[in-house]
Amino acid sequence: MTERIVLAYSGGLDTSVAIGWIHEATGADVVAMAVDVGQDGEDLETIRQRALDCGAVEAYVADARDEFAEEYCMAGLKANTLYMDAYPNVSALSRPIIAKHLVRAARQFGATTVAHGCTGKGNDQVRFEVSLTSLAPDLKCIAPVRDLALTREAAIEYAERNELPIVTTKTNPFSVDQNVWGRAVETGFLEDIWNGPTKDVYEYTDDPAFPPPADEVTITFEKGIPTKIDGRAVTPLEAIVELNQRAGAQGIGRIDIVEDRLVGIKSREVYEAPGAMTLIAAHRELENITLEREQARFKKQVEQRWTELVYDGQWYSPLKQNLDSFIDDSQEYVSGEIRMVLHGGRATVEGRRSDSTLYDFGLATYDEGQTFDQSAARGFIDIFGLSSKQAAARDVRFGKDKLK
Ligand code: ARG
Repeated sequence: MTERIVLAYSGGLDTSVAIGWIHEATGADVVAMAVDVGQDGEDLETIRQRALDCGAVEAYVADARDEFAEEYCMAGLKANTLYMDAYPNVSALSRPIIAKHLVRAARQFGATTVAHGCTGKGNDQVRFEVSLTSLAPDLKCIAPVRDLALTREAAIEYAERNELPIVTTKTNPFSVDQNVWGRAVETGFLEDIWNGPTKDVYEYTDDPAFPPPADEVTITFEKGIPTKIDGRAVTPLEAIVELNQRAGAQGIGRIDIVEDRLVGIKSREVYEAPGAMTLIAAHRELENITLEREQARFKKQVEQRWTELVYDGQWYSPLKQNLDSFIDDSQEYVSGEIRMVLHGGRATVEGRRSDSTLYDFGLATYDEGQTFDQSAARGFIDIFGLSSKQAAARDVRFGKDKLK
């Protein structure tokens, strides 16, 4: 039987051309694999048919939207994932699930090799290949765009010569990757980092400078997961989709940063993640009232490390799994409601309530009926400040003047 290679197929120019390129370069039959992670583009049937029309012998298509929302986006939410304090790991979260489906397809179609369409300059090649190594160390992986140096011009030329059913004339100036968690836009005009993003960069968000009237939303969480919006039960996918719409209409979640890639390049990225940024803001505030102080401080460090591991393609690594256990455990009491106002580019928390809150009105209030024993503060400070006091006394003995 002819050898089979499963290609992660997007339906775009590069991977459409890659079907023929791989077949010509290796003699193998190509199986196209496409997953819907909420990228909101063409339907899976159209993509399947195009793959077959471009020469794939089989097509594997999967609606992975709920799986992606529940197992990947929600893990990101629980970790408040923000790489470089800004980017909610939109593309980074999708690569491990695509890799998982690549392996499933390889098993189903008896392939020993898989392929992806990444270039050699980005993070995504690392994420795919490291995930594949963890899930199926026996599988080989090829990357035609990178390893066969497939340029855009060559791809267009190939598509035209072979009359592939793919639009080659419309030159999109940007490289875009999108899913339900957000949208990443790079290249072209944005590579001059002094240039501001133009209107055509954005699709998930409207201009925050001209917002519709303010939109108040109440999000209910159970153990860190959104379960209701304005009292209506929602799945994680529905929560993200609804907030993408409502926060997107207010221009919330636009991010423009120069980012440190794993491969050492600094690159300019524009992101839009209205639902993700709104959910993270709400989730963080709920944690503020439900996590104990030391737990919250430590979780911040865990979040940072988790986020770097996921950005760096280590989704299936042992350390990432260990950190997941900590994060999941920390969510035991992260249940309750957050009320926010979405308006003009900002998602502002205005109210919070929870049966498992640690906020104690009696301890906090400055009014009548407070329960905090203020007389205990003195002794606490005496002991808390004792080591500083000892060190200061030594400075005095040695004649050091700290006011100078
Ligand atoms: N820099 C981002 C990341 O590494 C986004 C990459 C998305 N790819 C793209 N073609 N725009 O996660």
